[in-house]
Amino acid sequence: MKTKILKINHQKPQASQIKKAAEAIQSGGLVAFPTETVYGLGANAFNATAVRKIFKAKGRPSDNPMIVHIYSIEDLERVVKSIPNKAKILIKKFWPGPLTLVFDKSPAIPKEVTANLDTVAVRMPSNKIALELIRLAGPIAAPSANVSGTPSPTNAKDVIQDLKGKVDIIIDGGNAKFGVESTVLDLKSITILRPGAITYEQIKKVIPGVKIFKGLAEKPASPGMKYRHYSPKAKLILFEGKSIPQIPVWRDENPDAAVLCTLETAIDNRMNHNTFLLGRQKRPDIIARNLFSNLRRLDRLGYELILCEGISESGIGMAVMNRLRKAASKIVN
Ligand code: TXA
Ligand code: MG
Repeated sequence: MKTKILKINHQKPQASQIKKAAEAIQSGGLVAFPTETVYGLGANAFNATAVRKIFKAKGRPSDNPMIVHIYSIEDLERVVKSIPNKAKILIKKFWPGPLTLVFDKSPAIPKEVTANLDTVAVRMPSNKIALELIRLAGPIAAPSANVSGTPSPTNAKDVIQDLKGKVDIIIDGGNAKFGVESTVLDLKSITILRPGAITYEQIKKVIPGVKIFKGLAEKPASPGMKYRHYSPKAKLILFEGKSIPQIPVWRDENPDAAVLCTLETAIDNRMNHNTFLLGRQKRPDIIARNLFSNLRRLDRLGYELILCEGISESGIGMAVMNRLRKAASKIVN
């Protein structure tokens, strides 16, 4: 398949370009598009055949459900059964934006989208290109636009690397603002199933009783949680808390390894050889923004081992640590 690349300015999206992408979605095609979190790979959410193509292009297990991306509350009413009161509070506060809510699904949504579940995950993105595309094409089912298991793409180059030749259109809309995926919240249990760009602290302010799902259950609350995720090809060893001072020791024993650490740790240990920066410890937002592109870059450079520093779990740091733990082959505490 020939993949068309459309470059679009996300501040001022060109209507004619987005129209081409919307037409591709409406005629059952696949379009990779930017959102404020990571790039998504979209299809018409009501078209089961089109949605099946997404699983094929990504190599995604068919029991992992997708997020339906909407433009308006009218769209929401088309894809869910009902809108609980708690949802209304969260929507008012966080939409459009990187919070995904799990509702009872409307029969109009095919089972392919929800992997046979009776629930559907929905979000209204804030990226202007994404919103305009959904406005023109209707609700879009989209997982992240990567080959299943690899770090999510946060720029068009990373999407092209994974999906060129497998999808109709890739929109190049620049770098994603947050760099980690949306927070997924189950409305029945008021539980965060996946920490993400909207923080636990932010949600707690509006819903004080919100819980965080911990650990891998036999039957995961969010099917996506049972799969290995976000992994670079290199083996990643994650150092948390008190073990961080061991990084220089491990580095001396593995001189070919890449070190991915904060600016402070690099300076304190005078590290520069094979050293890559996550960012400053005080800026977890910037660490999040560059996290996946850093992991992909280390793969492109051919490293086989990454020694990676963990950060504080406050704010968006919780999402960063969730992704790093899933990417890690080994965690040193
Ligand atoms: O920021 C994001 O959320 C990005 C952009 C493209 O919107 N999308 C994304 O999609 O990360 P994906 O497919 O990579 O992750 C969707 C997550 C998975 O963990 C999946 O298991 C969960 O949402 N999910 C989807 N439907 C669900 C449902 N009905 N119940 C529970 N979890 C669900
Ligand atoms: Mg994903």
